[in-house]
Amino acid sequence: MPVSIIILAAGAGSRMRSSLPKVLHKICGQAMLSYSVTEALKISDDIHIVLFFHHQKIREYIQNIHQNDLNKITFHLQNHSKYPGTGGALMQGDDQKCLPVKHDNILILNGDMPLITKESLEGFLTARSSIALGVFELTNPHGYGRVIIKDDKVSQIIEEKDASPAIKALKTINAGVYVFEKKFLQTYLPKLKDTNAQKEYYLTDLIDLATKNHIDVPPIFVNPKHFMGVNSKLELSKAQDVMLERLRDQAMEQGVIMHAPQTIYLETGVSFAGECEIEPGVCLYGQTKIINSHIKAHSVIEDSTIEDSHIGPMAHIRPKCNISQSHIGNFVELKASKLSGVKAGHLSYLGDCEIGAGSNVGAGVITCNYDGKAKHKTIIGKNVFIGSDSQLVAPLKIASNVLIGSGTTMTKDAKEGDLVISRVRQENKSWGFYKFFTPDQADKK
Ligand code: UD1
Ligand code: CA
Repeated sequence: MPVSIIILAAGAGSRMRSSLPKVLHKICGQAMLSYSVTEALKISDDIHIVLFFHHQKIREYIQNIHQNDLNKITFHLQNHSKYPGTGGALMQGDDQKCLPVKHDNILILNGDMPLITKESLEGFLTARSSIALGVFELTNPHGYGRVIIKDDKVSQIIEEKDASPAIKALKTINAGVYVFEKKFLQTYLPKLKDTNAQKEYYLTDLIDLATKNHIDVPPIFVNPKHFMGVNSKLELSKAQDVMLERLRDQAMEQGVIMHAPQTIYLETGVSFAGECEIEPGVCLYGQTKIINSHIKAHSVIEDSTIEDSHIGPMAHIRPKCNISQSHIGNFVELKASKLSGVKAGHLSYLGDCEIGAGSNVGAGVITCNYDGKAKHKTIIGKNVFIGSDSQLVAPLKIASNVLIGSGTTMTKDAKEGDLVISRVRQENKSWGFYKFFTPDQADKK
């Protein structure tokens, strides 16, 4: 059945207590609204997003993320000052008419339900009659609209702010997912009134209008782990926990070993291939790709590709790194660097560099890539041995087969076969210890 989808994202989101629009708050690295759009696009070619507060910012974000599907997405500006509320969001122009959509059946989604999936939406749609409402039960239903069910039919939804104590005690709540026929909305939207505690046009009052006009509305029980709403930062973290569990479960089913998985953070764009092992406390951000690699405890990897390598413990791989066949040890920080067949075992900063196979980076080596104005590159060939505690002042080129003595501050390029060393010659002064600390007795020694 072809269906048009309307996603409501015009609310102020004041319970979020944030200057960032609610639907742009992220879970696992992606804005909440973008999850809804992604899943909606899997089942419909006609997606409508209703915006008002911060509409420009939200529109730009969605246009950027979903740029290949913009022909299926229409943005609408709610006439919020005249028709506030979730019902008002469906109205177009000045006369409470329904938004123009392509298909006769309309799926309506609150924009703050980031956990929906194609499968959960399809499950809801197959269960539907001409009007349907998603509901679930909660032991603590605070904040949600309570659903009154009589003879297996929904008779009314009462919002928290309009509810008496007896109604508040009801545990069945409105999930925020609905199906309507277009002709129903055309007839009944203009009949919505704003006579309630919030002086808003409630979408939920359409259910009341349906029952009063002898149209049955079956309650469709849906999974709260897919349809929970996010109004506050507390709920945001709860939704993220559900998403994290999904991402970790998917990875493990795909063959990734995870130790203490509940301590591992990963984002929606992260991917794994081959045999991977991830230790406790690891954080994987952005579009990171892990291929046949072992990431040891408490390492952080951002927007990078790691192949056939060991990383960590406690390594920090910042964006745009490409690491293959390498060993990166503890307290090594990398940024925008390409390492292939390299060992960097301890305490280094390697930024904006390329290092070739067989090279060894000693403890404490630093690429000085920033001169206070601009970033510069360090290019290092194959089989280069960089002694501990050396500083490589960029821009710098080091050819293959070069030996760099410990403590060298390199400011000039090195050619193949060079031994590079720059340090003050050591001097040992006899009895200097005693002369310094006990000068009175020094001559007795
Ligand atoms: C809404 C429902 C409530 C349900 C809950 C589920 C109404 C009146 N109440 O309450 O019954 O239990 O969702 O999570 O619908 N929005 C607009 N324009 C507006 C106001 C809101 O587009 O003028 C959008 C918001 O951006 C949001 C969605 O509609 O994505 C829901 O609005 P919200 O204020 O979060 O409604 P709830 O109070 O959670
Ligand atoms: Ca909500």
